[in-house]
Order: sequence, then C-alpha cells, then structure tokens
Amino acid sequence: MTAAAPGEDVAGFLARHWQRPLAAQGAAPEQFTPQETALDAAACGACHPDQHRDWSASLHARAMGPGVLGQLVDMAPGAHEEHQACIRCHAPLAEQAADLSAAIAGRRNDSLHKQGNTCAACHVREHRRHGPPRRDGSAPKPEDKLPHSGWQASAAFGDSRFCASCHQFEADDFALNGKLLENTYAEWQASRHAKEGRTCQSCHMPERRHLWRGVHDAGMVKSGVTVAAAPPRLEGNAVLAGLTLVNSGTGHHFPTYVTPRVVVEIFQAGADGRPLDGTRQEQVIARQVALDLAREIADTRIAPDAEARLDYRRPRHPRAVRIDYRVRVEPDAFYTEFYRSLLASGAGKGEKMIRRALADSLASHFTIHAESQSLQDGERKP
Ligand code: HEC
Ligand code: HEC
Ligand code: HEC
Ligand code: HEC
Ligand code: HEC
Repeated sequence: MTAAAPGEDVAGFLARHWQRPLAAQGAAPEQFTPQETALDAAACGACHPDQHRDWSASLHARAMGPGVLGQLVDMAPGAHEEHQACIRCHAPLAEQAADLSAAIAGRRNDSLHKQGNTCAACHVREHRRHGPPRRDGSAPKPEDKLPHSGWQASAAFGDSRFCASCHQFEADDFALNGKLLENTYAEWQASRHAKEGRTCQSCHMPERRHLWRGVHDAGMVKSGVTVAAAPPRLEGNAVLAGLTLVNSGTGHHFPTYVTPRVVVEIFQAGADGRPLDGTRQEQVIARQVALDLAREIADTRIAPDAEARLDYRRPRHPRAVRIDYRVRVEPDAFYTEFYRSLLASGAGKGEKMIRRALADSLASHFTIHAESQSLQDGERKP
C-alpha cells in the first residue's frame, strides 16, 4: 500500500471530512434510489459484500457496544455536547446523533447509532461517496454511469492521517505525565515504519480489507512482537531464567493505549504441571493510569524496536521439574476496573449493559506465548 504524498491536498480534505460535529447529509440527489440514499451498512453491503463481511466482524462495527452505550443512555436525551464527546469517535454521523437522542428519550429510532463506526461515517458526506482511487490508480469519470453517481477519489484514504482523526488526540487535549492519552499517530510517526512508508492501513487493512484487527486479536498481537525465552540456569540453589519481548512489528508502542495490560510471567512447576507456590515472578507491560485519570501510575509499554525483559531469579522449589514461560494479554484491563467502579457507584439506566460489558471485558483475555523447559536436563517442550 502506498503512502499518499504529503501536502495541502490530504490535510485540507481531512480537515473538511472530519469537521466535528459532522453535518447532516441533507436531501439526496433526485435520481438516487432508496438503496443509494440509505446510510446503513446493510444497504452498502448489498453491493459491497466483502467490505461488509470484514467490517461486521471488526471493532469499528461494535464501537457502540454495551460499555459505550451503557454510559450514553444515562445521559439526558438533549445533552448533545455530552453525547458528541463520545460519539465523535464512536458513531460520528449527524444521523446517528439524532437517532441516539431519540433512543435515549424512548422514542422510535432506526438503530443507526448502534452501527458505531459505520461505512457512511468514513465514506459519505452530503450523500456523496468518497474513497481511495481504484487499485489501478484510476478514478470515475463524470460520464461513467455508476451507482451513487460514482465517488470522489482522494489519496487521504491511504494516508495514516485518516486514522489520526480518531486515534490521536490534538496537542491541547488531555495529557498525563506530559503524554497525550491517545498518541498512536505520533508514536507511529517517530517509528521506522513511518520512515519506510508502512501506513496504519498497510498493517490494519491489508489489501484494503476492512479488518482493523488489534490488541483483541491473538494473531495480530503475535505478528507484532517477538518473544524469546532464555533457558533456565542453576546457580547454587537459585533458578535463573529470562523472557524477552521485542516490539518488532507493531507500528507504535506495544500496546498503544492505556487500556490493555500484557503480563509476562515465569514460574516453576511440579510433575503435574501446576505452578508451585512462591516461584512466580511477573512483569506488566502497560501504561497504567488511575481510574479517574488523575495520574499515570507506570508506563512500561515497549516503543517500536525496543524490548522488555523479565529477569527471573528464585530459589529452586524442591518439587520443581520444569520452568514455564507465559505471555498473557488482557485487552480491556482498564475497562474491567472502570466498569466495576461504575457499578459500585451506580450505573443508573445503563446498569444492565455495563454488567454485560464487564463480563465481555473478562472474556477477552488470551495467551500469546506458553512454553516449558525442563529443569532436569536441557530438553525443551514447546
Ligand atoms: C447499488 C449498488 C451499490 C450500493 C447500494 C452502494 N455502492 Fe458503493 N459502489 C458501487 C459500485 C458499482 C462502485 C464502483 C466500483 C468501481 O467502479 O470501481 C462503487 C464504489 C464505491 C466506492 C469507491 C470504491 C473505490 O475503489 O474507491 C466507495 C467508497 C463506496 N462505493 C462506498 C459505498 C457506501 C459507503 C455505500 C453505502 C452507504 C455504498 N457504496 C452503496 C455500488 C454500490
Ligand atoms: C470515526 C473515528 C475512527 C476512525 C476514522 C478510525 N477509527 Fe479505529 N476505532 C475507533 C473506535 C471508537 C474504536 C474502538 C471501538 C470499540 O471497541 O468500541 C476503534 C478501534 C480500532 C481498532 C481495534 C482496536 C482494538 O482494541 O483491538 C483498530 C486496529 C483501529 N481502530 C484502527 C484504525 C485504522 C487503521 C484507521 C484508519 C484507516 C481507523 N481505525 C480509523 C474509531 C475510529
Ligand atoms: C478521540 C476518539 C474517542 C473519543 C472522543 C472517545 N473514545 Fe472511547 N474509544 C476510542 C478508541 C480508539 C477505543 C479503542 C481503544 C481502547 O480500547 O481504548 C475506545 C474504546 C472505548 C471503550 C471500550 C470498548 C467498548 O466498546 O466497550 C469504551 C467503553 C469507550 N471507549 C467509551 C467512551 C466514552 C463513554 C466516551 C465519551 C465520554 C468515549 N469513549 C470517547 C476512541 C474514542
Ligand atoms: C474507519 C473508516 C472506514 C469504515 C468504517 C469503512 N471504510 Fe471503506 N475504506 C476505508 C479506507 C481507509 C479505505 C482505503 C484503504 C486503503 O487505501 O488502504 C477504504 C476502502 C473502501 C473501498 C475500496 C476498496 C477497494 O478494494 O478498492 C470500498 C468499496 C469501501 N471502502 C467500502 C466500505 C463499506 C461498504 C463499508 C461498510 C461495510 C466501509 N467501507 C467501512 C475506511 C473505512
Ligand atoms: C507495522 C504494523 C503496524 C502499523 C504501521 C500500525 N499498527 Fe496498529 N497495531 C499493530 C499490531 C501488531 C497491533 C497489536 C499489538 C498492540 O496492541 O500493540 C496493533 C494494535 C493497534 C491498536 C489496538 C490498541 C492498542 O492498545 O494497541 C490500535 C487502535 C492501532 N493499532 C491503531 C493504529 C493506527 C491508528 C496506526 C497508524 C497511525 C497503526 N495502528 C499503525 C500493527 C501496526
């Protein structure tokens, strides 16, 4: 995938395209069929089935999940600015804002807001489609007879700045310990990946696919880090070992946000494979912040091409036969604690949804690396 040439064109397009709050689409051109006028993803999906299938399985389609909506339904129906503070990234269309207000007020609505970051949010303004040039670089000509009157091609769709509109805070937005709370684009810009022309899209939308896999996907996380175990050594009665994580393929900090937690651990195990008491040592890789965002507790994330290492040293347990290495990922660790605290103080009308979001956040954990090495000889068991 190519990076767009930097310049006025892309920056100017994006400033208009993402001017929040987004303007309503207005009246559709007269010749449009109801299907061409419809903004919901299923209507697009009838003609763009591949994008629809991929998008439906992505977190962009679930950006108005119970954790977000559970907080929004407890706001007043007319608190438009308060809604915007969230939906400008989670469900940005003006039509979604109106639909959300109607839903909170208990009026009939068509659920467009529940589609989250839907096709039209990125592609449709004033009922005109915007998209990248075709793969061969061409764009529709005025005389082409295409559905929805064709589209306006812009290099902005292939440019990392397209994603920055929601994945990067502005310079004067909320920061902690001198670092913006969302800083993904800047982290990327400072990395080798930016210099080598590897855009956000090249990793998160390979072959233009609408996948957006990230820290919730084990395969994606594995593609971003290289894990290496140092075999155990005995020194007197102590067992020494190590586990190194290199951020070899993540285009920004690993992980980029304050919300996930990666736990690197080493422990000794007995013949039954169970961890032995008092032998566990762990290291957390995360940007940990207080629940009320009042302070940063620690920042142990791994910058692009940097590494983190857990140095293990513990007395050898009399029943130890092997040593185990693990890397676990908790993609929603911050939210788990946040939902618990919200439920404790009262989640109001959103209570049922927040309970579901809490359960989802606990169900999202996975392991990307598990390996055992024998303490008796040099033999390895993967
Ligand atoms: C009736 C069928 C139909 C519907 C409905 C439809 N499209 Fe299209 N769309 C097409 C066709 C055909 C093209 C032209 C493809 C080409 O010429 O390369 C196109 C082109 C596009 C492009 C440009 C593709 C590129 O190569 O950059 C985008 C973006 C797009 N549509 C988005 C949407 C969105 C978003 C919706 C729903 C809001 C939608 N379309 C609804 C048929 C449809
Ligand atoms: C309109 C705002 C918006 C735009 C534009 C946008 N995103 Fe997102 N993105 C979000 C939101 C909101 C979420 C979180 C959805 C959720 O889980 O509630 C998200 C989630 C993601 C995730 C999944 C993160 C995870 O935790 O696993 C990835 C990856 C991602 N976006 C990449 C991109 C890329 C690449 C682009 C540019 C092509 C982009 N996004 C453009 C708002 C946006
Ligand atoms: C600048 C864009 C932006 C704004 C504004 C924003 N979010 Fe998010 N939000 C994201 C992104 C990106 C993610 C995914 C990364 C993550 O998990 O932190 C996310 C994730 C979440 C999640 C966890 C995933 C899920 O769907 O359950 C919740 C809950 C959430 N946001 C709630 C809110 C609420 C409530 C507001 C308003 C007070 C808000 N957000 C404002 C971008 C934004
Ligand atoms: C978060 C923003 C975002 C959302 C949501 C989104 N797209 Fe896209 N879409 C893009 C970007 C960015 C590209 C260009 C990717 C590139 O150039 O690498 C693209 C490309 C396309 C293309 C051209 C594909 C090709 O192979 O040439 C079509 C068609 C399209 N999108 C339709 C859709 C449809 C239909 C949906 C909903 C089911 C949708 N998009 C949702 C951002 C988005
Ligand atoms: C070289 C490939 C690569 C590039 C370039 C890249 N990413 Fe990622 N991204 C990954 C991998 C791998 C993960 C999973 C590991 C992780 O969570 O850090 C990820 C995770 C994410 C997540 C999940 C949240 C989190 O806390 O990690 C978001 C959001 C995201 N990327 C957005 C972006 C955006 C926006 C850009 C461009 C500014 C971008 N990425 C550039 C590979 C890449």
